[in-house]
Amino acid sequence: MLKPLRKAVMPVAGLGTRFLPATKTVAKEMLPVVDRPLIQYAVDEARAAGIEQFCFVTGRGKTAIVEQFDVAYELERTLEERGKARELAELRAQQLAPGSVITTRQQVPMGLGHAIWCARHFIQDEPFAILLPDDLMMCDVSCTKQLADAYKETGGNVVAIEEVPRERVNRYGVIDIAEDKGRLVSVKGLVEKPPVDQAPSNLTIIGRYVLMPEVIGHLAKMEKGAGGEIQLTDSMAKLIGTQPFHGVRYEGRRFDCGDKAGYLEAQVAFALARPDLAPAMKDILARYS
Ligand code: G1P
Repeated sequence: MLKPLRKAVMPVAGLGTRFLPATKTVAKEMLPVVDRPLIQYAVDEARAAGIEQFCFVTGRGKTAIVEQFDVAYELERTLEERGKARELAELRAQQLAPGSVITTRQQVPMGLGHAIWCARHFIQDEPFAILLPDDLMMCDVSCTKQLADAYKETGGNVVAIEEVPRERVNRYGVIDIAEDKGRLVSVKGLVEKPPVDQAPSNLTIIGRYVLMPEVIGHLAKMEKGAGGEIQLTDSMAKLIGTQPFHGVRYEGRRFDCGDKAGYLEAQVAFALARPDLAPAMKDILARYS
C-alpha cells in the first residue's frame, strides 16, 4: 500500500535579488500575477492535488506569506458590512484548515536541498510534494495533481519535466533517460545545471516534485554541488536504483516568474485566460504591437 500524499513543502526563503527594488520589502512570492500572489497559486495548485498540510520554508522578511493564509478578521467584517459577498466568498474559499500551515526557517541560504532538509521534522516518514512558487503553472489539471496521479501509478519519486532548447539545459536539473514511455519517463540519472555539451538530455526538471522521505538522509550529508550549494537534485539522484524514479511530461504551461520576462508573460497569459480581463488585455496588446 502506498502512503497517501498529504504534505507539501514550499521553499520561500530566497532573497529575490532579480526583482529588486520591489523585493527589498515585499517577499518575491507575494508579487501578484493579475490579482493573486504567486504563493497563492502554488497553494491552490497543491490543494487541488489533495494536499492538506503545508510547510513554508521561510527566512527574514517573509511574514506576509503566512499572513496571506490567516483569517483577516477585520477585513472580513468590513466586507460583510459593505455587502461585498463575492470578495468575501473568495477570501473564505482560500482559507486553509486551522493548524494546517507551519513554517520553518532556513537561516542561511545554502541551496534548495538545504531548504528541503530544513523541513525534515514536518516531512517525517511520509511522501511529500515540493512546489517552487517561482514556477507558475497554467494547467487544466493541477500540475501537482498530475504528479500525485503518477505517484499512485508508479510509486516512488516523481518529478515534472519538460523539454527545453539544448542551449538552456545548464539552468536546470537534467534527467538521464532510462526508458521514455511518452508521458512517463523512467530516470537513471540526474545532473544539476550541467554544461550544455555534457547534459544527458534536454529533458529538465521544473519546480514540482513528489519525493520519498528517504531523500532527507542524503540531504543530511550536506554535500555541496553545482554553484557550491546543497542541491536537491544530487540527493534525488542517490535514490535512483533503490526506489522508482520517474519524470512526468506534465500537460500545461510553465512561467518562470523568477525571471522578469517570464513574470511579464505570466501577467499577459493569466489576464488573457480571464473572461473579465481578456478584452482589455487584447486591446492593450494591440496598442503596443
Ligand atoms: C531549481 C532546481 C533545478 C530545477 C529548477 C526548476 O533551480 O535546482 O533542478 O530545474 O529549480 O525551476 P533554481 O531555479 O533554483 O536555480
